Amino acid sequence: MSKAPRKILVTSALPYANGSIHLGHLLEYIQTDIWVRFQKMRGETCNYVCADDAHGTAIMLKAEQQGITPEELIAGVKAEHESDFADFHVNFDNYYSTHSDENRELSELIYNRCKDAGHISSRTITQAFDPEKQLFLADRFIKGTCPKCKTEDQYGDNCEACGATYSPTELIDPRSAISGATPVEKESTHFFFKLPDFTEMLKAWTRSGTLQDEIANKLSEWLDSGLQEWDISRDAPYFGFEIPGEPGKYFYVWLDAPIGYMASFKNLCDRTDGLEFDDYWSKDSKAELYHFIGKDIINFHALFWPAMLSCSNFRTPTAVNAHGFLTVNGKKMSKSRGTFIKARTYLEHLNPEYLRYYFAAKLNNRVEDLDLNLEDFAQRVNSDLVGKVVNIASRSAGFITKKFDGTLSSQSSEPELVKEFISAGDQIAAYYEGREFGKAIKAIMALADKANQYIADKEPWVLAKQEGAEQQVQDVCSVGINLFRLLMIYLKPVLPEMTGKAEAFLNDQLDWEALGRTLEDHQINKFKPLMTRVEMEKIEAMLESSKEVLAEEQKPKLDPNSPLAKEPIDAEIQYDEFAKLDLRVALIAKAEAVKGADKLLRLELDLGGETRQVFAGIKSAYSPEQLEGKHTVMVANLAPRKMKFGMSEGMVLAAGPGGNELWILEPHEGAQPGMRIR
Ligand code: MSP
Ligand code: ZN
Repeated sequence: MSKAPRKILVTSALPYANGSIHLGHLLEYIQTDIWVRFQKMRGETCNYVCADDAHGTAIMLKAEQQGITPEELIAGVKAEHESDFADFHVNFDNYYSTHSDENRELSELIYNRCKDAGHISSRTITQAFDPEKQLFLADRFIKGTCPKCKTEDQYGDNCEACGATYSPTELIDPRSAISGATPVEKESTHFFFKLPDFTEMLKAWTRSGTLQDEIANKLSEWLDSGLQEWDISRDAPYFGFEIPGEPGKYFYVWLDAPIGYMASFKNLCDRTDGLEFDDYWSKDSKAELYHFIGKDIINFHALFWPAMLSCSNFRTPTAVNAHGFLTVNGKKMSKSRGTFIKARTYLEHLNPEYLRYYFAAKLNNRVEDLDLNLEDFAQRVNSDLVGKVVNIASRSAGFITKKFDGTLSSQSSEPELVKEFISAGDQIAAYYEGREFGKAIKAIMALADKANQYIADKEPWVLAKQEGAEQQVQDVCSVGINLFRLLMIYLKPVLPEMTGKAEAFLNDQLDWEALGRTLEDHQINKFKPLMTRVEMEKIEAMLESSKEVLAEEQKPKLDPNSPLAKEPIDAEIQYDEFAKLDLRVALIAKAEAVKGADKLLRLELDLGGETRQVFAGIKSAYSPEQLEGKHTVMVANLAPRKMKFGMSEGMVLAAGPGGNELWILEPHEGAQPGMRIR
């Protein structure tokens, strides 16, 4: 008797709608997708929903910068995200947006229920405010000089140079990262979710098998030391949902983001017969609910979220499954090394199933970081998938097609070996269920080794040349094909495309229940290559073009607030006025900081015999060492100007909006110091 299928709802974290999907994100979506595919092929009712996380200041500003509406920005990004996911075979049952009617309704409902139950408070707080942009500034939108080590251009809460953490009020010369204006302090009323009211509930929930041990331990420290109220409102202008009854106040993006899981599922229910929202979300739901997330967003999912759900009379998650971060070649993904790899850049060079396999082979159910070592990646995929798995089929298929018209033997000659492969299924299933994908892959590859050993021992290619060994050849190859088939069943959650090709070749449907039969007296189709080898050159090309993608993005964007954008020069000049400019190639012979000036560098410029001293305001973009020995362009006939630090005898030319986004002009190598620019 077969038992009723489980009802399972699965989510991955909602990616922000202001950037592209990269390989770090994909670790999460691939992990979740493998788990979901496993459940589906076992016959469970499993739905996998996700959405773009579309709200917040960053998205509002990005749209403004591009001169489009936030709605236009998020529509474009959503289309891009969806095609990236589809091409990596991440198979959502619904991919939605947090900027939706369903999400607005559910967010209001949850807020109102929490408010009615007395779990919302409000009070006036003081915050940094950009007087030019008329906008409250979160810490990361404030920049200034580090109070500890005095490095310029550091973010409001920590210094990248010395690692110090501080509050934005401690910054020297603080500026708004948006307009450059000096922030002022301003008061405003904010709304808070009274998280401390849920301390006891959370102590029980976090200890009830919902979290990995290492996370439950960490959270219990916080629960013991006391929780703080959570600020859930932001002032206009903000791209998000206005709080009911509070004009000009918006829900903080992290309030409506997890509700986006519900909203995406609601949207799916509304167009799917037999799928009921309440079955999955009501307080007494018997369905299972799993969130897959990265370790950076645990608080939101394991504290705020269950508290909000319980406060508004919904069920809480069955489990929150957190994973670690992706590193590439042992280091944090880096734009300059080319290891910050976007989904699309990868797809332009490599097969998505290589990455799915590599991640699966290295994933476990703990919160550990995972390293994508690109040499190991190529070696692992080539030796396991191409060398072991595909090899079994390709060594057996030819004989069956050529000699036996594509028909397998009518009876297995190795029932014990086949049985051993089938009975490994329970352990492999337990590994998948428990998110121990690495252990599943290890077990599958041990079987692949056995299958190869079997074929190597039987040597069908030798038998094929022997008189009267026809039946033996067919039997050995038929066993080989059956073993290959069992391996592909086990690999199906990880390699859906390759399994699809194997299904066409085997003329069979590979679900978990297909373990219950073997192929005997069965017609197979012509073998076509299932997967090709990873080539190191392709990997190198991918790294190279990741650097290019970056170069593209680093082009100075004209910030609408920059003085350059505001003051186009519309005075027309005549040629003879232009001809008065004496522009020259100059060699930067020496560059040094100027005591007492935080924006200036003192340069000694060699004009091919003559040396000039120039004070240039480019310290925020260049260190002296970066400049020495470079060729640049200077205005050589500018009237000398007496400055506080000495005489400035000319000017160097630079482009960019300012700050660290400033680039001196560099002539082509052929140009020599002193040459006139015309
Ligand atoms: N929008 C929020 C999530 C809201 S969920 C209600 C967010 N978005 S994100 O785009 O920054 O990240 C989406 C997911 O990708 C997160 O779970 C995050 O941990 C994961 N990852 C982002 N970079 C990653 C790596 N380098 N490595 C592994 N996972 C990474 O957070
Ligand atoms: Zn510092």
